[in-house]
Amino acid sequence: MQEENGKKRETRLFRVSDENFDSILDEAAEIIRMGGTVAFPTETVYGLGADGLNPDAVLKIFEAKERPPGNPLSLLVHSREDLGKVAKNIPEKAFRLMDAFWPGPLTIVLEKNDTVPEITSGNLPSIGLRMPDHRIPLELVKRAGTPLAAPSANLSGKPSPSLAIHVLADLNGRIDAVIDGGGSAIGLESTVVDMTVEPPVVLRLGAVGVDELEKVIGKVRSTYTGAEKKAGDAVPEKQAGQKYSHYTPNTLVVLVEGEREEKVSEKIGILLEDYLSKGHKVGLLLSDETAGFFTAEGLSANECFLLGSRKEPEEAAKRLFEGLRALDAKGLDLILADGSFSLEGLGAALLNRLREAASVRHVV
Ligand code: TXA
Ligand code: MG
Repeated sequence: MQEENGKKRETRLFRVSDENFDSILDEAAEIIRMGGTVAFPTETVYGLGADGLNPDAVLKIFEAKERPPGNPLSLLVHSREDLGKVAKNIPEKAFRLMDAFWPGPLTIVLEKNDTVPEITSGNLPSIGLRMPDHRIPLELVKRAGTPLAAPSANLSGKPSPSLAIHVLADLNGRIDAVIDGGGSAIGLESTVVDMTVEPPVVLRLGAVGVDELEKVIGKVRSTYTGAEKKAGDAVPEKQAGQKYSHYTPNTLVVLVEGEREEKVSEKIGILLEDYLSKGHKVGLLLSDETAGFFTAEGLSANECFLLGSRKEPEEAAKRLFEGLRALDAKGLDLILADGSFSLEGLGAALLNRLREAASVRHVV
């Protein structure tokens, strides 16, 4: 808990509208310049920002999130001119990625400059950079006049926040302010690609897919090749920045996935009956189609959160963290999660997040 004079920090809530945008952004930028912490929406998830070049400010992020020291933060930038301040020896391929995907959900890991404090980069010689596609963080970076260290605005180990209420649930009393700018359009964290190695390595899959990266820069190394790793694909070793990547709800998550959608629904039904018969309180995280199958079969659980159609992984991605948080708050013994979503578009990243959240995985 961050304390000032032994007191809990008061977290201010700014609700942005077109009328007050300017004054709120000025106030928030002032908090950042003074070395404080402000959470804000981005198109991926909410971020917790502080002056990325001020080690005392960055320490506040680690304290508020209870983030393990050494886990590197990435920086949000506002323009290409900011790059030279924080990165060096930028490869030509990295510029091609910026042309193709910035502003947007792609974090590019580059060699860092000495201006970036060690606490920000987790003592690594590299730094992740992203130009977000959202006017609030872009303006905040611009008005604060410094790149923002901005990890997801959740307690370490919790699902990332896609709404301001998620941020408050985790960080109220630990940070200076939250800007409520509505729900995150994507709902999953950015794709992270390490451009300090050749071929580049995908460290985390987000809305920018492996195929899309390869169209722009040629071969990349990745474990994320769709549903399953293809035979013969190289698996990159865990990189320094990846060792802390797991977040899991407190409630046990059991994931059912498989190529045949009806089989997945059937298996979830069998597991549900089994757990209920043993007296467990069960929550369901389902596609509309599996929910429809359950209604037809006369099955029901203690709690259910619908992610939308399995044919629309974009919609499901937007609601995933909300669903995990909502079910996690219900005091259940376990959550049965539906892995029958299409792997097109955001589907591969969605399945990846479901797998990370799950402690038990059934493939049917
Ligand atoms: O979409 C996003 O990227 C969001 C929004 C708020 O911008 N941010 C976010 O930050 O998800 P964070 O810190 O929760 O995740 C950044 C990921 C982490 O897995 C971190 O370990 C990795 O990027 N990372 C950052 N810098 C790195 C580096 N120099 N080398 C390897 N991995 C790095
Ligand atoms: Mg995070």
